[in-house]
Amino acid sequence: MTTASSSPNSAFIKYWGNRNNPLRLPVADSFSMSLDGPTVEIDIEHSDALKVISFNPDGTQLELGEKHVNRFGKTLDMTKEYLTKLGAPDAIPASVSITVRSNIPPAVGLASSAAVFSCLAKAIQGLVAPVIELTNDQTSVIGRLGSGSAGRSVHGGFVALVAGEGEEIDSSYGKQFADQNHWTLHDIIVVPTMLEKKVGSTEGHATAQTSPGYNDRVEAIMSRRQQECIDAVLKKDFEKLTAVCEEDVLDMHHVMQTSNPPLNYLTDDTHRITNGIIELRISEHLPVFYTMDAGPTVQLICTDESVDRVREFAYAQEGCKVFEAKTGGGARIVREVALSA
Ligand code: DP6
Repeated sequence: MTTASSSPNSAFIKYWGNRNNPLRLPVADSFSMSLDGPTVEIDIEHSDALKVISFNPDGTQLELGEKHVNRFGKTLDMTKEYLTKLGAPDAIPASVSITVRSNIPPAVGLASSAAVFSCLAKAIQGLVAPVIELTNDQTSVIGRLGSGSAGRSVHGGFVALVAGEGEEIDSSYGKQFADQNHWTLHDIIVVPTMLEKKVGSTEGHATAQTSPGYNDRVEAIMSRRQQECIDAVLKKDFEKLTAVCEEDVLDMHHVMQTSNPPLNYLTDDTHRITNGIIELRISEHLPVFYTMDAGPTVQLICTDESVDRVREFAYAQEGCKVFEAKTGGGARIVREVALSA
């Protein structure tokens, strides 16, 4: 049995829209920072039929609906297809038994699917190691098949999901640009407690291209933004990073709001928090920027220098919960236990 652990990531250049939905092949590149928590652990072992058990942070068993179990099943089928392409069709001879233990608080607004499927990919890397040694880039393909952004959390530090071209299963993969020791950035996560009922990312990706702003967004990312973000991270230029990340998050939400049907993930709380942090940034010259995914949660990305002040701001937000994370090392294998036959 192999046990792996992983965490979500914070997207700096957002992934939104696929050129192939079932294979989760994105239209444009994206970029993120892997976080050091909260963690998900997965045990995996070979079995005759697919079995998925999941536990909540409090240790109670989560009743997984058919939709969730099917997502694991589809990911496994595509993984087997990929392993066949790599010349190891028997690496998973039948199926697997998966046990998920999540420490991600429900409704935190962090993509738990990125943590779960990057963790599953890493566990699969360990499981198939006696037959085929997968690189981390190859493992990231498996993560991407389960959840696009999971392709990034397989690696630690600062990671791109390279969109690539064509319809090959491995034409898009996660690529690390710097590891977690390069730069410590903090992610202070402010969660308005009244969470709106949301449309999940999977459905959103499928309608993204109905927005009249979609093509311009892709063009901006591919011609300029992604590279500006990578350069800013490599040079530790926080000001440049702030500008490009805030430009991109606002652009993604504009695309979401102008899609058919429109997706409005941001609430009054979101705007109150982002306006507040802009004021604070200007008045106190603080290195901090905001970003939001498919929900009202605001992530405040900041440096060692500003984290205490940003934390103070976050805890002062009425009716909000606060979680803290920082640059992390990506998915890892925690233990491998040889089971006797
Ligand atoms: C807005 O990776 O969650 O958070 O492949 O359907 O699981 P699925 O989508 P997902 O999409 C992430 C969307 C986002 C932006 C980002 O993380 O880049």
